[in-house]
Amino acid sequence: MCGVVAVIGKENASQLVIEGLKKLEYRGYDSAGIASEANGLLQIVKSEGKLFKLVDKISRLSNEKKYFDSSIALGHTRWATHGNVNVDNAHPLTSENRIAVVHNGIIENYEILKEDLISEGFVFKSQTDTEVLPHLFMKYIKLGNDFLKAGRLVLQDIKGAFAFVAMSLDFPNQLFVSRNSSPLAIGLGEKSNFVGSDAKSIDHLTQRIIYLEDGDHALVNLDGIEIFDKNKNKINRKIINIKAEIGLITKGGYRHFMEKEIFEQPSVIPQTISNLIKNNSEININLRRLGIETKSALLITAAGTSYYAAMVGKYWIEHIADLPVIVDLASEYRYRKPSIFGQTSMIVISQSGESLDTLMALRYAKKLGLSTNSIVNVEGSTIDREAEYSLYTRVGAEIGVASTKSFTSQLIILFVISIALGEKFNKLQSKKIHRFCNYVNKLPNAIAQMLKIEDKIKLVAQNIKNSKSIIFLGRGLLYPIALEGALKLKEISYIHAEGFAAGEMKHGPIALIEDNVPVIMFLVSDGNEDKAISNLQEAYSRGAKVILIGDRKCIEKASFAHLKIEIPNFETDFKSLLSPLLMAIPAQLLAYHVANERGTDVDQPRNLAKSVTVE
Ligand code: M6R
Repeated sequence: MCGVVAVIGKENASQLVIEGLKKLEYRGYDSAGIASEANGLLQIVKSEGKLFKLVDKISRLSNEKKYFDSSIALGHTRWATHGNVNVDNAHPLTSENRIAVVHNGIIENYEILKEDLISEGFVFKSQTDTEVLPHLFMKYIKLGNDFLKAGRLVLQDIKGAFAFVAMSLDFPNQLFVSRNSSPLAIGLGEKSNFVGSDAKSIDHLTQRIIYLEDGDHALVNLDGIEIFDKNKNKINRKIINIKAEIGLITKGGYRHFMEKEIFEQPSVIPQTISNLIKNNSEININLRRLGIETKSALLITAAGTSYYAAMVGKYWIEHIADLPVIVDLASEYRYRKPSIFGQTSMIVISQSGESLDTLMALRYAKKLGLSTNSIVNVEGSTIDREAEYSLYTRVGAEIGVASTKSFTSQLIILFVISIALGEKFNKLQSKKIHRFCNYVNKLPNAIAQMLKIEDKIKLVAQNIKNSKSIIFLGRGLLYPIALEGALKLKEISYIHAEGFAAGEMKHGPIALIEDNVPVIMFLVSDGNEDKAISNLQEAYSRGAKVILIGDRKCIEKASFAHLKIEIPNFETDFKSLLSPLLMAIPAQLLAYHVANERGTDVDQPRNLAKSVTVE
């Protein structure tokens, strides 16, 4: 999603902005641009595509002495919402070559504002919603307002979710910034200050960070900042000291971040576990802070892969702790009138901690009176800050757009929550608690063993790489993994893929089966496997290319399958209860290798963003 970086007070501001934008690349974008001031003129350079194209353009212009570095610069990576991907629509957007604005979010009432501005004589050069911002600034500055007053008038006019930074030649040593729902951090330096979409984008410049709160606006000067809340009261926001990432995060010898993130699961997951389970069976989750003091229903909301983790969590919590769990898509939750009957607590799950849909669901539940909690990977993210209690996955930065290690670590937290709840509500005796904790501790090793089937998965990938459409089937705990397998595959290989509950096939989706359509099932023997195998047989009888990834017993039972991948041998109870964690691995590997076979951009697939900060 769009990334914003700004620097004021450093001689090589443009260069520092570019370094910040590089740190935001992983979020996904389709064009980039930069604005700076030189010799009293605004310099704008923009380009379609990846950041290196912008860098090339700037260095060409610098060699020709047509671009000068300056002590103030704004930069942007754009993920298109309004208007095609082209240079005109790339940010910064300007007004009369005197104001430049970079923006993340959507100005929802831009159409009416644009009409008014056009009738007042402003000329629009882009199809974006953002362009109303520089023109509104220009309008109010021309009326005699200073930068702060002009910015406040702009804020009165606009509706929507946004984080923006504006610079004006009329106020050369100032930046006006504001946020509403989209994230924005200000970094404090020595006679210099910085702005970024997240703290990481400016941690090469400072470790002293202030997160603006919703409705805040600020004037960032060379030697200080003034922050105001939505009622225009001057306010002090907390300064947080962050740890800088040592240099840029590297691929560590792997071809892609996604590959590295898949393969580092056995080594990073112990960080998730060590915080949750102490001394083998003491669970370090505060159920009182989680808002579950008495038996009540639990609500979990999330988006994408995190939502599939929530679905698995429901199965576990209901099965192990006998507590009802309602799982809701964050993007749906806020826009209906959900009943909170029987509920006291909600958990949102988000790798980035910035997904706007998920944040809004959390805020909505807070308003409804639920205790709001989060499972996040990025500590200090907006969701982490707004949740009353957070549990951290702690698997390190996830750069590949496709979630991998964050999914498995979310699952681990949910499984441990189910043990904690089972203990609290007397559904688990201490022997079983001990056994389940032991299962959790065995996971890093089990995942390492699952990764060893990579070569067999590669063969499947080669076999299905040219398919038009692929179906994933699962039952019970492995139904969400069928959904996750399909999501992962479509995200990075661009092949149409759908996941279905195996038992649902006969109620409609079976009509999709024709000769050679790959039907992939993840399966472990848990006593119910025969039902799933019958569903697979039904697909086989209609000409599907049946691919089974399962344990030996299932493979033997489904000998008719065209391709059979046997997983390593694990204890029956362990493998059936923790099957989602085991089977997530072949699902990730399969998507990764199909994408590689097809030569797609694995880490930054088309149209996708890592941090989805618009609704
Ligand atoms: O950061 P979040 O966990 O809130 O992100 C939610 C989804 O956008 C995310 O899981 C998305 O579906 C991934 N690209 C899946 O691989």
